[in-house]
Amino acid sequence: MASNIRTNNYLRHVESMKLMPSGAGHISHLNAVVLGDSLATEEDDFVLPSEEFASQANIQSPEQYLKMYKRSIEDPAGFWSEIAEEFYWKQKWGHKVCDENFDVRKGNIKIEWFKGGITNICYNCLDRNVEAGLGDKVAIYWEGNEPGLDDTLTYTQLLQQVCQLANYLKDNGVKKGDAVIIYLPMLMELPIAMLACARIGAVHSVVFAGFSAEALAQRIIDCKPKVVITCNAVKRGPKVLHLKDIVDVAIKDSAKNGVPIDKCLVYENSWATKREDTKWEDGRDVWWQDVVPQYPTSCPVEWVDAEDPLFLLYTSGSTGKPKGVLHTTGGYMVYTATTFKYAFDYKQSDIYWCTADCGWITGHSYVTYGPMLNGASVIVYEGAPNYPDAGRCWDIVDKYKVTIFYTAPTLVRSLMRDGDGFVTRYSRKSLRVLGSVGEPINPSAWRWFYNVIGDSRCPISDTWWQTETGGFMITPLPGAWPQKPGSATFPFFGVQPVIVDENGVEIEGECSGYLCVKKSWPGAFRTLFGDHERYETTYFKPFAGYYFSGDGCSRDKDGYHWLTGRVDDVINVSGHRIGTAEVESALVSHPKCAEAAVVGVEHAVKGQGIYAFVTVVDGVPYSEELRKDLILIVRKQIGAFAAPDKIHWAPGLPKTRSGKIMRRILRKIASRQLDELGDTSTLADPNVVNQLIELADS
Ligand code: WTA
Repeated sequence: MASNIRTNNYLRHVESMKLMPSGAGHISHLNAVVLGDSLATEEDDFVLPSEEFASQANIQSPEQYLKMYKRSIEDPAGFWSEIAEEFYWKQKWGHKVCDENFDVRKGNIKIEWFKGGITNICYNCLDRNVEAGLGDKVAIYWEGNEPGLDDTLTYTQLLQQVCQLANYLKDNGVKKGDAVIIYLPMLMELPIAMLACARIGAVHSVVFAGFSAEALAQRIIDCKPKVVITCNAVKRGPKVLHLKDIVDVAIKDSAKNGVPIDKCLVYENSWATKREDTKWEDGRDVWWQDVVPQYPTSCPVEWVDAEDPLFLLYTSGSTGKPKGVLHTTGGYMVYTATTFKYAFDYKQSDIYWCTADCGWITGHSYVTYGPMLNGASVIVYEGAPNYPDAGRCWDIVDKYKVTIFYTAPTLVRSLMRDGDGFVTRYSRKSLRVLGSVGEPINPSAWRWFYNVIGDSRCPISDTWWQTETGGFMITPLPGAWPQKPGSATFPFFGVQPVIVDENGVEIEGECSGYLCVKKSWPGAFRTLFGDHERYETTYFKPFAGYYFSGDGCSRDKDGYHWLTGRVDDVINVSGHRIGTAEVESALVSHPKCAEAAVVGVEHAVKGQGIYAFVTVVDGVPYSEELRKDLILIVRKQIGAFAAPDKIHWAPGLPKTRSGKIMRRILRKIASRQLDELGDTSTLADPNVVNQLIELADS
């Protein structure tokens, strides 16, 4: 139990949250622990910031938050333009800070922020910081897969390397608005490549280097890049992955589909394989090290409109085709920088490590742009978090004196399983703020993260957001919030989350429903590349007048938000979004597979696992070999991370009379909740359910 003075203070603070539009603030009882005081136990509903932490924080109390939050909602133009002024604009935006139509009933969805403002995000990340005297500050601490292998780049050096690559790209015909595909692991060259594209106004599309050749080809075909940037290979843990081979297959495939690639820039990652061992196509393939260093270390900036595209990032949806989420420049810049600063309570002295790969949105917003816009020192780690053993993360934390550590619940759970010993043998004294992203963090993992990793000293920012939102939407502010283990707490400035029922009616107070957002925020995505209609249909039509997140959420009596996972056909495996339709279409492309239905099941480490019901073609026997083949085909078409955990042979699938698969029943069978199957009478053939149950463990 916390000291009473502190607790009562907070009670008063939290009471003031009644003013929140969500109706927060009636705290009837308060079992709490204060940061640094003692372990958080199951009896504790709250974890309170210590006086010491709060007094140095950027936002020090719920009241301070509330004042800023209210302003951000009542006067978004004033609130955001004041923040935007801190960046460099070649020319200021026009008279409208935000111009939006968020309601499909009133016409096409449109979101614009700072339109008419001319700027460049690379300039704001690098040149501006160098000019402000941060030139000698380390921008990137790079840590290789193998312990002992590392490198650093100061802001000045990073700027020079970015300029060299930008000059190379320009010289090879890449112009403003052209797409560039980046298929790289976590080398320093990955953020370098992103920033180089941004510098010349090119639109980068980073493809996570765990995606297969087919998935890469699909993305190349969609965005038709001028150049593909990759490396020969990478070592991740004990394994060597030959990325260039994958790119070769993808480029061949895309050429067959009418999208030839003339230039493939290959970084030689000699720690993984040698140049001589890399397959090569003269004329098309060029070694990065042979050409890029020859270019000048300065490169003029291409000034772009705030609404010019910055990047495309493909993400899974509920149909087979990945969606090209498009983010623009100005609003994204202001939003990622601001969310980073407040949600992690960032200070210039911090050393920041986000374990995400730049192949996902987290790596875009919170490895590259958000931190660098703040002039932060960022760790870029190439390897696997448990290599050579489960203590590697804390080894890295101690080596660089990391102060802010941002990761995913799946890693927390997997390290928790490996035992406290791997953690406690390291000091971790430098840590002051922890962060979580990608999926709901279960309270027991939260407590372990807090008690063991953070020694009960560090607040946890459980940040809820999405590829589409560009930056944090619901997140604790570490010095302000009393936290509840497992809750993402309250909205960030300018964000108005609402929970609606199935009819799209907002529900107040304590409730559960669909999580939507009212009104735009600067970091919102502007469209799906080449398919504005799908953008409107997926996100704005389900509940007219709102952006629909695809997530379920409940709000408790104190106004805290608890994310409950996807409510659409998307599975979240280790924080990676995977569309069930994508996995199904890979499975049915196997000639022996007649039909497939994929659902998510609870998984102790990954959060959700992939569970596939498969009907084979008539006359084909089930076999272990076929099972392996089916898993392989998913690995090949999407990537290893999407491989099903379980194949369940299904002589038939439960369908309604109109032929719709009843996934609700499949989910219950997959999780063996057999007494909760519900009404099966509407099935065309109720008997298939019994057959499936019989075959469950075969
Ligand atoms: C889930 C990752 C609960 C959610 C930034 C969302 C979360 C999807 C959280 C987006 C969180 C992300 N708590 N759920 N803190 N963060 N999610 O696009 O289901 O890869 O819709 O963006 O991850 O995944 P995405």
